Amino acid sequence: MRKIVINGGHKLSGIIPISGAKNSAVALLPASILCDEETTIYNVPDISDKNALIEILKLLKVEITQQDSEININPHNLENTVISEQYSTKLRASYYFMGALLGKEKSVTISFPGGCDIGQRKIDLHLKGFESLGATIKEINGEYHIEANELKGCDIYLDIASVGATINIMLASTKAKGITHIYNAAKEPEIVNVATFLNNMGAKVSGAGTSVITIEGVKYLHKAMIEVIPDRIEAGTYLILGAMLGENLTISNIIEEHLAALISKMKEMQIPLINKSNKIQISSSKNYKTINITTLPYPGFPTDLAQPMTVLLTQCQGISILDETLYTNRMGHIVYLKNMGAKITIKNQSAIIEGPTNLYGTTVKASDLRAGASLILAGLIAKGTTTILNIEHILRGYEKIIEKLQNVGADIKIIEE
Ligand code: EPU
Repeated sequence: MRKIVINGGHKLSGIIPISGAKNSAVALLPASILCDEETTIYNVPDISDKNALIEILKLLKVEITQQDSEININPHNLENTVISEQYSTKLRASYYFMGALLGKEKSVTISFPGGCDIGQRKIDLHLKGFESLGATIKEINGEYHIEANELKGCDIYLDIASVGATINIMLASTKAKGITHIYNAAKEPEIVNVATFLNNMGAKVSGAGTSVITIEGVKYLHKAMIEVIPDRIEAGTYLILGAMLGENLTISNIIEEHLAALISKMKEMQIPLINKSNKIQISSSKNYKTINITTLPYPGFPTDLAQPMTVLLTQCQGISILDETLYTNRMGHIVYLKNMGAKITIKNQSAIIEGPTNLYGTTVKASDLRAGASLILAGLIAKGTTTILNIEHILRGYEKIIEKLQNVGADIKIIEE
């Protein structure tokens, strides 16, 4: 079993470069099979979610060449094989093969996706979208058989501005006959990245990044390339850490606009930030003001940063309230933060955090990806040694997290027992 061991309290200085966005890369890889020629994706983060998707691409007999963070994908010999639960449950984003295979092959058989256990994560909106485009869906023992004689453009209104449903419908409709409108589409930057990739192939997608996306179906998609955008959640995690331990710590390769909600909250807390082009320098200070946060779809405060943020709020003077509105079970880290000395009460989906409190090292468990990241932050500010179990969750989504932290002065390592 692998564990992360941290000796806390070291100040951090130097540069943490941000990798490609997990939630873009995991959609771009499945999207690549829609292409009728080869594609190249640059700046792909080296995380285990990427490896799980490459396993699925190989199962489908897609040719893959990887060199560092560059992946070349050739779907010339694609075989539309069943994607069984052995493959689909390794990550959430396996569901993008639904839209990609349906769009390309007019049929797909795939089991329910996996991913972090952070509450009910339905895919009804994805499926309703496919049905509106003309597909029929049968679910037998958790396996979805989705097929269509022909996919026809239509108007689709999403009850929730779901990231996954927006991307999946975009993928399924790229080669459909006629025009599709997605109303109440999600606006996350990762959606724009996927739309750009499709357009680079010759697709006609407009409006990505707004709440109405229009897709005019095309017959053929040609050779193209795309660069994965910087990971705004990784950047946010390290900025939050910098507010607690930074000594001129620089977070580089960021798109500041994608971090606007976090930066605005940090300013409200009176955290000093120095913005330079594509980087932010941060140093820790004391007596930060308390704040209240409500998680919302982009451009609101991201749910994926709420867990790391709870650690910073334990260091503020007074009571902060964090309301999680997207997921019903995103407080898996709180019990461990309390074991480390934090004063936090949970009421429904809100965390009421009283600070400042010293944190003390102990043994904790990562219940999901962002919970794990927040425990790393807690371990880094804690007195003594913190041991984190279940670290596979963390390695799914943060590229080279141990090396990046060691490089700026953290005492952190992975041990195998
Ligand atoms: N929802 C439905 N029905 C659907 C789709 C979504 O009820 O058909 C609900 C979900 O249950 C959830 C809410 O809508 O309560 C938002 O879900 P959404 O579909 O937007 O999320 P997702 O596509 O499953 C992606 C990211 C998440 C991130 C959310 C929100 C990927 C692979 N995952 O999930 O990332 O939290 O968008 O920004 O892109 C993470 O990186 O830690 C992570 C969980």
